[in-house]
Amino acid sequence: MAYFRITGTSHRRVLSGAVDVAGAKNAALKAIAAAVLFDDPLGIANLPEIEDVSRMLDLLESMGASVTRAPHHVTIDARRIGHTMTPEISKRLRASIVLTGPLLARFGRVTFPHPGGCVIGARPIDAFEDAFRAMGARITLRNKLYTVTAGGGRLRGAEIFFKKQSVTGTETVMMAAVRSDGPTVIKNAAMEPEILWLAECLNAAGAKISGAGTSTISIVPVKRLRSRGKEMRVIPDRIEAGSFLILGALAAKRLEVRGAEPAHLESLIEHLRAAGVPISTAGRSMIVRAPKGKLRAIDIKTHEYPGFPTDLQAPMTVFLTQCEGQSLVFETIFEGRLLYTDSLNQMGANIQLMDAHRALVRGKTSLRARRLESPDLRAGLAFVIAALIADGVSTIHNIYNIDRGYERVEERLRALGAAIERFDE
Ligand code: EPZ
Repeated sequence: MAYFRITGTSHRRVLSGAVDVAGAKNAALKAIAAAVLFDDPLGIANLPEIEDVSRMLDLLESMGASVTRAPHHVTIDARRIGHTMTPEISKRLRASIVLTGPLLARFGRVTFPHPGGCVIGARPIDAFEDAFRAMGARITLRNKLYTVTAGGGRLRGAEIFFKKQSVTGTETVMMAAVRSDGPTVIKNAAMEPEILWLAECLNAAGAKISGAGTSTISIVPVKRLRSRGKEMRVIPDRIEAGSFLILGALAAKRLEVRGAEPAHLESLIEHLRAAGVPISTAGRSMIVRAPKGKLRAIDIKTHEYPGFPTDLQAPMTVFLTQCEGQSLVFETIFEGRLLYTDSLNQMGANIQLMDAHRALVRGKTSLRARRLESPDLRAGLAFVIAALIADGVSTIHNIYNIDRGYERVEERLRALGAAIERFDE
């Protein structure tokens, strides 16, 4: 098992340079699932080289797709894929659930296990089940495997209202509806940029999806999707870009985050500026500096896009430990996503959990090095940031959880002057 050894900067502004943002994990995983909808091979470019992407490709391969991997690129020919999702792999990542949409569109039938993924809350699939039923499917659960069967072999278009906005739910239904009988309207749809990008890519191949990126998405089914050699180019990872901004705001003389889409990070940028962090944006580049003066405490409340992303809540909480005064962190999406704060307290932070959704951060506190276990992907990266600014030498274990979502993060941080090494236990 690999671990990171990090020598902290003792709260000094020492990092500098430029870092390039990788392709978005949560866009790439959906593009891989979308390959199942295509009648010809699909190329995906700017693919992040991360564990979750490898697992998703393994999943398609294990189901009969032909997968040709190259650096930051893959070609998927899913013409011979089957409709049973390999349970051992599916259980390892939440995004596997998205594959049910394209498989239902193609076969009118899919068998899958309850999806796994980061342990950050209950993560039910009732919204998917409700949507499939509304589209005329029957669902059975046998030996821990769900089988969804469309009546008459094909899903019916339907009007679907999501009681809670769901990112993967929206993506799954959108793709299922691309090849169903009759039009579908999704209401209270999630509005994340990755959903808009996915819809645009599908439309370029012949789909008829309108309204993606808003809360009402309409899908008129089509007979087939063909890439005709046109690739899907994965958009920049806004969560990774945002995490680098937060690190820069704490520890950089000057950090340029390149190849990002600042428009996808407005909420974070506004919050950091309100705390006193200078950030400038120009085209696809953002420049951040850790201010010489004090940082001001601010409250954050996670919210569906374009609100403050839950996936940046943990790194932002590390930032708030360095602000003067009291900040409230209100995690509204997941109920298990504040547990990592205990480890920050052991490093010297003063964070009080009010309940499962709210934490009070009192700052500024100096952080001391510690042995840390990465509990999930985003909290894992938050620990990297905490260890980088702390006094002393920390080790972070269970870094598979970091490699799931961040490509060679230690090499990229080292190029900025960070003292971080990967070792094998
Ligand atoms: C996606 O998860 C992302 N994962 C998550 O990123 C991200 O944190 C989350 O969206 C919110 O932005 C992928 O895209 C693979 P939801 P998803 O369905 O789609 C409830 C990361 O670190 N809900 O939008 O699984 C759910 O419990 C990961 O990259 C139901 O009640 O999240 C939550 O409270 C972690 N029933 C809310 O909806 C359902 O059937 C929103 O979850 C489905 C969801």
